[in-house]
Amino acid sequence: MNSRLASLQPYPFQRLTQLIHGISPPADKKPIRLSMGEPQHAAPALVLEALKSNLAGLSHYPVTKGSAELRQSIAGWATRRFHLNKIALDLERHILPVAGTREALFSIAQAVIGRRTDSQQPAVIMPNPFYQIYEGAVLLAGARPYFLNTTEANGLRMDFTAVPEEIWLKVPLVYVCSPGNPTGAVLTHDDLAKLIGLAQHYNFIIASDECYSEIYFDEAKPPLGLLQVANDLGIQDYKHCLVFHSLSKRSSLPGLRSGFVAGDGVVMQQYHQYRTYHGCALPPPTQAASQAAWSDEVHVRANREQYRAKFDAVLKILKPVLDVERPAAGFYLWPKLPQDDEIFTRGLYARENVLVLPGTYLSREFEGVNPGQNRARLALVAPVPECIEAAQRIRNYVESLK
Ligand SMILES: Cc1ncc(COP(=O)(O)O)c(C=O)c1O
Repeated sequence: MNSRLASLQPYPFQRLTQLIHGISPPADKKPIRLSMGEPQHAAPALVLEALKSNLAGLSHYPVTKGSAELRQSIAGWATRRFHLNKIALDLERHILPVAGTREALFSIAQAVIGRRTDSQQPAVIMPNPFYQIYEGAVLLAGARPYFLNTTEANGLRMDFTAVPEEIWLKVPLVYVCSPGNPTGAVLTHDDLAKLIGLAQHYNFIIASDECYSEIYFDEAKPPLGLLQVANDLGIQDYKHCLVFHSLSKRSSLPGLRSGFVAGDGVVMQQYHQYRTYHGCALPPPTQAASQAAWSDEVHVRANREQYRAKFDAVLKILKPVLDVERPAAGFYLWPKLPQDDEIFTRGLYARENVLVLPGTYLSREFEGVNPGQNRARLALVAPVPECIEAAQRIRNYVESLK
């Protein structure tokens, strides 16, 4: 076996199952899960229709690159959404469909990180707390994670100025997650422009995980994206920049397994070759359904309206008892807790049959700080009445601690 497998941490949901093992929550309270970020809004009808009417495509092997029509709809969406008016997205060079961003965020590390001797082990920068795939991908690629703690002190954003020069010299890849999971923080134009400058100087690739970019509150202020900043700066061929987008959250289609990677033309050619061998082309009906989804914004606006309603209602209930803020974007709350995060999670489950994710299951201790400590992640994915019921039960639990 590959000895690097031993370095993988247990996945957060495995740890959560162990944490609540043996607890019998009150049977008269319906279970409510805020622990997993799985969107539960209805799948858009036009996507289901496209899926059904393209089943004949199952008789053909799909190509890794995806159909030109799908790449065209992706390019159209990204160009409109991020105002890519200076550096045109080239269908042949800049775009690849992927089977959800999870596999792409994993596989990009395998494609990008080269083999080195131990003394020069590459370091990959990532936020802390973070989406767990980044860490596993980096460890299996033979590199080590270098965390940037995202705490209140830095507005829950990565502070790239905190990275020492000796680390930058070993960095082939930087993961950023904006809007952040679990923080909901959005990197600013200045943050991303600085990061592009560093990538040019130290020659690394930026993997910008933007899968929550379409869940935001002010229709006039959608979150920025990395390609948008690269376009503004006139970065030819989107050198050093890759973005990862998904239909899972944008269109409430987590089971479709569909997203895309776009950016740096040279890296994308090599990544395409990697993917050809890896074998992860999207089934033709999935491609047709994805094309329909990227071409429609009506269902995405309706999706956002539902999240807005949940945040409005839930925050009203929780704010009097918990230190909790509306995030800049995304569908998570990341409150500070009056107790240790594991104790809080167990206590809440035992008393109220509501499940949340302890903050430390998404973070590591780095430089003496664990930014997930005494926080929990609450995913507002259930229908509005269920989220309201969950908030009321959380409030009851917090009040019972006083
Ligand atoms: C930050 C982040 N990135 C990527 C993903 C993967 O999403 P998908 O593979 O469904 O596109 C998730 C899923 O929860 C996530 O939270």
